[in-house]
Amino acid sequence: MNYRQARWREPLIFEYSRRGKRGLRVPEVEQEIKDLVGPVNKIVPVNMLRRSPPNLPEVSEVEVVRHYIRLSQMNFGVDVGPQPLGSCTMKYTPKVLERIVEVKELAKLHPLQDESTLQGIMEILYKLGEWLCEIVGLHKCTFQPAAGAHGELTGALIIKAYHRFRGEERDEMLIPDSAHGTNPASAAMAGFKVIKVPTREDGCVDLEALENALGERTAGLMLTNPNTLGLFEKEVLEISRMVHKAGGLMYYDGANLNGILGITRPGDMGFDIVHINIHKTFAAPHGGGGPGASALCVSKELEDFLPVPIVEYDEGRDRYYLKWNLPHTIGMVRSFYGNIVPLVKAFAYILLLGPEGLRRTAEIAVLNTNYFISKIRKIRGFTLPYDPQRPRKHEVVISARDLKRDTGVTAEDVAKALLDYGFYAPTIYFPQIVEEALMIEFTETESKESIDAFIEALKDISEKAYNNPKEVKERPKDVAVERLDMAYGNLPRVLAPTYWKYLERRKEGLLP
Ligand SMILES: Cc1ncc(COP(=O)(O)O)c(C=O)c1O
Repeated sequence: MNYRQARWREPLIFEYSRRGKRGLRVPEVEQEIKDLVGPVNKIVPVNMLRRSPPNLPEVSEVEVVRHYIRLSQMNFGVDVGPQPLGSCTMKYTPKVLERIVEVKELAKLHPLQDESTLQGIMEILYKLGEWLCEIVGLHKCTFQPAAGAHGELTGALIIKAYHRFRGEERDEMLIPDSAHGTNPASAAMAGFKVIKVPTREDGCVDLEALENALGERTAGLMLTNPNTLGLFEKEVLEISRMVHKAGGLMYYDGANLNGILGITRPGDMGFDIVHINIHKTFAAPHGGGGPGASALCVSKELEDFLPVPIVEYDEGRDRYYLKWNLPHTIGMVRSFYGNIVPLVKAFAYILLLGPEGLRRTAEIAVLNTNYFISKIRKIRGFTLPYDPQRPRKHEVVISARDLKRDTGVTAEDVAKALLDYGFYAPTIYFPQIVEEALMIEFTETESKESIDAFIEALKDISEKAYNNPKEVKERPKDVAVERLDMAYGNLPRVLAPTYWKYLERRKEGLLP
């Protein structure tokens, strides 16, 4: 255990502020951009233009640098150590991608420029769309959804529009009980009644229960494969056949695509709609690391329902253009084309790796998981529920139920103790069908050495739990912020504690 996080007593950036201090003089908008975009008040409605300057802290460059470096030293990210946060695919993102998105030709584009000046970025989006459709085995895609859950909502709205267009009243969405919480939430937001499908003892969808749930009101099934237990749904072809026979559509939650990338394709499994979490599988940081992005790919039959605009290519004129007139479009679900930065990163990442490289990412991710499983079996207090002999794909859910029963140390205690060993906490208590769940995903970017270190940390925690559980329950101790009160931390009124601090100080007249 050689990890210690810095503990600065760092003031708010506003507390450094002194009138007249300057770190940077913001240059005038370059003429080149003004010429392309036009005067600001022609784009932003006059009533929305700012009347007075924003209340920004006035600080020098060195103060800004030191402030944020200190904060970063009290934080944890994948550049510091492994983040085995199951279901989130927190892979290390190659730094070269940051350089690529900063090139002037991309960074200075504005979506309101004339299409003729946006040919480069449109080519990137068009080709990326074609590659992703090839990867998932579907026909056409949109990049409008801002992240995975937004992709689900868009997909659910397409399913709704499709049935409505066919004159069918289908208002039930089937969702396995192992699904991510966003699946039922998205379906409900799109106006569907959610029907839960149970998981069998082997960790896969219960086909008998599915058969009973299907009917003439079934709009579709939202399925994650590999599922959130890390298991491949071995009867997926049969599941697709059953859902289609009942008149429903198959929706694929692609958050777990990393486990099958380049090996098999949702389209070949019978799925009609797929969302891809670009920020998980294709190397844009996920979670606090910048915006995410989603690609929503659909079959030919559903193409006309996609949100508009979509990027198209006119072969005759050798020109890319935005197509707005899809006959049954559900409309826009977000401004412009989507979150461009993660999309450009995905384009570069696919180019860098090529088909062989993409397949290799999935193979190594799966190998890492199963190497970990081979070791976890020997650690006291942890078990592998649901068909323990079957290999997992890119992630695994272990249970600390026995540890809790024997020592009182819970999955949450284990996750918190791991922080002291230089690991980010794994996902806990999800999926809900596993008691005292710890969901672990190393991704392909972790080495055997870091997985070994994680195993050693778990062993140490287990030994300590059996000898002195109190010690484990008091962890973490070596991080900037020790044990948080989980319930208090969840209260809406303290959701943004730093900003809260700013408002309190302002109320006391200590800050402008
Ligand atoms: C299985 C699964 N589905 C959907 C989502 C939602 O994706 P996003 O966080 O990009 O909205 C997640 C997120 O972690 C997930 O793990």
